[in-house]
Amino acid sequence: MCGIIGIVSREEDVVPRVVDGLKRLEYRGYDSVGVAVVSAGSLVVRKSAGKLADVVRKAGISRLSGGICIGHTRWATHGPPIDVNAHPHVDCSGSIAVVHNGVIRNFSSLREQLESRGHTIRSDTDTELIAHLLEEGLREGLSPLGSMARALSMVTGSYAIAVLFSSDPGRIYFARMHSPLILGLGEGSNAVASDVTALLDVARRVVPLNDGELGWISATEVALYRLGGNGELVPISPAELASRIKVIEWTPESASKAGYPHFMIKEIYEQPQALLETYNGSVEDPSLARSARLLVDARRVYVVGAGTSYHAGLVFSYMAATLARVPVYPVIASEHPYMGNAIGEGDVVIAVSQSGETYDTLEAVRDYKKRGARVIGVINVVYSALDRESDISLYTRAGPEIGVAATKTFLSQVMLLELLATFMAEHSGALTGSEALEYRRKLGKAPRITQDSIAASDPVARFLGERGSYKSVYVLGRGLGSSIAKEASLKLKEIAYMHAEAYPAGESKHGPIALVEKGFPVFMVATSDSPHISGNAMEMSARGAEVVVTKPADLSLEIPRGIKVIDLPPSQGFLPYEPFILTPFYQLLSYYSAVAKGYDPDKPRNLAKTVTVE
Ligand code: F6R
Repeated sequence: MCGIIGIVSREEDVVPRVVDGLKRLEYRGYDSVGVAVVSAGSLVVRKSAGKLADVVRKAGISRLSGGICIGHTRWATHGPPIDVNAHPHVDCSGSIAVVHNGVIRNFSSLREQLESRGHTIRSDTDTELIAHLLEEGLREGLSPLGSMARALSMVTGSYAIAVLFSSDPGRIYFARMHSPLILGLGEGSNAVASDVTALLDVARRVVPLNDGELGWISATEVALYRLGGNGELVPISPAELASRIKVIEWTPESASKAGYPHFMIKEIYEQPQALLETYNGSVEDPSLARSARLLVDARRVYVVGAGTSYHAGLVFSYMAATLARVPVYPVIASEHPYMGNAIGEGDVVIAVSQSGETYDTLEAVRDYKKRGARVIGVINVVYSALDRESDISLYTRAGPEIGVAATKTFLSQVMLLELLATFMAEHSGALTGSEALEYRRKLGKAPRITQDSIAASDPVARFLGERGSYKSVYVLGRGLGSSIAKEASLKLKEIAYMHAEAYPAGESKHGPIALVEKGFPVFMVATSDSPHISGNAMEMSARGAEVVVTKPADLSLEIPRGIKVIDLPPSQGFLPYEPFILTPFYQLLSYYSAVAKGYDPDKPRNLAKTVTVE
C-alpha cells in the first residue's frame, strides 16, 4: 500500500535519507516511486513507475540535493501504474507537491469542478486534485496551512498526505484521516511517515497522528492542529503534543536482512525468537487475564481479521471452544458489514492485525464499537490505529515484519491467542488454575519446538519446492489442521503463485474430490485431534492423488504405502504445539517454490503489506 515519507533538516542531506526511508517502505508493496525537493526556491519533482533502485537511477533522484524532501511509493488505486500517475503530484503552477496514501471518495465531482474552474488535471489520480485545491486556497490569499484546512474540508474519504509549498520552503505540511501517519522527532531534523519502520534511521521519538489532525514540521519545530467541523483550525498545545511522544524500541538492524537473501526466510527463521518475546511479554501480562474475564462473561464473542490474521483468529476460535468451552464467531473483516446487525451491548470482539492499520479490520472495529461491543486488539505495531482504538491492546512482539507474507507475526498471534485461551479456560472453569498454569508452562516450550520444526522442515520443503512441479494443489486438514491448512494454502498462493485450495478434509468428498486424478498433489495437515484424516488420505490416494501427509512424528496414523509422510517434531500429544510444528513446513515450501521459479518472495505481485484501502 502507498508509503509516504518526508524529512526536513538543518543540513542539505535529506534526499538520500528519504530514499532510505522509501526503501524501508518497499515492503508495503508498490508499483511507482517519486520524490519532490525544494532546491534554490523551486520545486523539483522526479518520479516514475518501477522499482525504487531503478527509479532512483533513471529519474536522477540521487543527483538531487536539499534540506527538505517528500517521497512516495505508490500502489495503484486510481489509474494504472504509469509515470504520470506516480506521486508527487503538482498543481497547475508546479509550485505545490503532494504525496498521498488513501482514497478520495468524492474524486469524480471534485475533478469535474476543478476542470470547470480551468485547472489542467494531468493524471488519473485522486491525489492530484488535492494539489489543485491547495493552489486555489493560496490564490484566495490563504496561508499554506489555511489552504490545507480549506482543501481538506472539501474532500471526503481517507488520506495521509505530505505537502511541499515552494513559497514556504522550510516546512513540510501534513494531514491524516483514516490512513496512517506518524511524526518523527529527530535532532536537527523532523520527519513524517506512514509507519515507524520508515523512521528507524531518522528518529526514535514519534507521535502517531489521529484522524482529523494536520500541521507542519520544520527542522526544529512542530505545529499540530485539529480540523474543526467548519474547517476551522483548533491548535493542539505543545503540552498535549509532548504527552503523546512515544519512544520506538525497534532498531534499524531489526528491519534489515542480516545476511539472509530475503526478508521472508529471515522472518521464518526468526520465529523462535519472536515467539519467545511474545511469550515472555504476555504470559504474566495482566491484560490477558482481564481480557479473558471480559470474553468469558461476554454475551457473544467474535474474532475479526483479514488474511493471515483471520487464520490466527480461526485457531483462536478452535482453542476457545475446545479449551475454554467458549464459542467464538470468526469473521472475515471485509465481510463484517453484511452481518453487523447481530452485534450489540455485551458483545466482545477480538481484532487481530499485525499492522493495526488494515482498513477492513479498522472499519469493522469501528462498527462493533458503534453497536456497543468492547474491542480487544491483538497487534504487532504499537501506536497503530487499532492499538489506539481498542479498549484493551494485547501485543505480539514479533518485531518489524518486512516480507509481504505474514510468517513470524502469524505464529506470534497464535502464541498470544493460545495463552489467552488458557486464561479464558481458567475463568470459565474448564481448567483449574493449576491446569491452566501447566498449559502456559508448556507453551513456553513452543519457541524451541518451532526451531526444531524449522530445522526438520527446511531440507524437505526445499527439495519439494525446487522440484517445482506443483501448479494446483489441495491442502486438507481436519479440526485444528483445517485452520493451519488455510494459512498454508494462502502462503502457497501469494508467494509461489500456486493455485492452492484449503478444505476441511472431511468436506473434500462432497465435491472437491471430483478434481482429483492421477498425480494431483494433495497435502494433508494432520493434527492429533483428528487421526481419521488417514481415511481421507486413502480416499485421495485411491483416486491417483499424489498425497503428502505432514504430521507430528508421534502422531500414529494408519497410512498405506505409496503415501508420502513427512514426520515433523513430536507434539507429545499437546495440541497447542501443533500450529508451531506444522506451519513452518508450508511457509518454507512456499518460499523455496517461489525462489525456484524466480519470483521475489518479499514482494509478491499485486500484493501490499498493509492494505489501507477498502
Ligand atoms: C498474508 C498477509 C495478509 C495479511 C492481511 C492482514 O501473508 O500478510 O493476508 O495477513 O492483509 O494484515 P494485518 O494483519 O496487518 O491486518
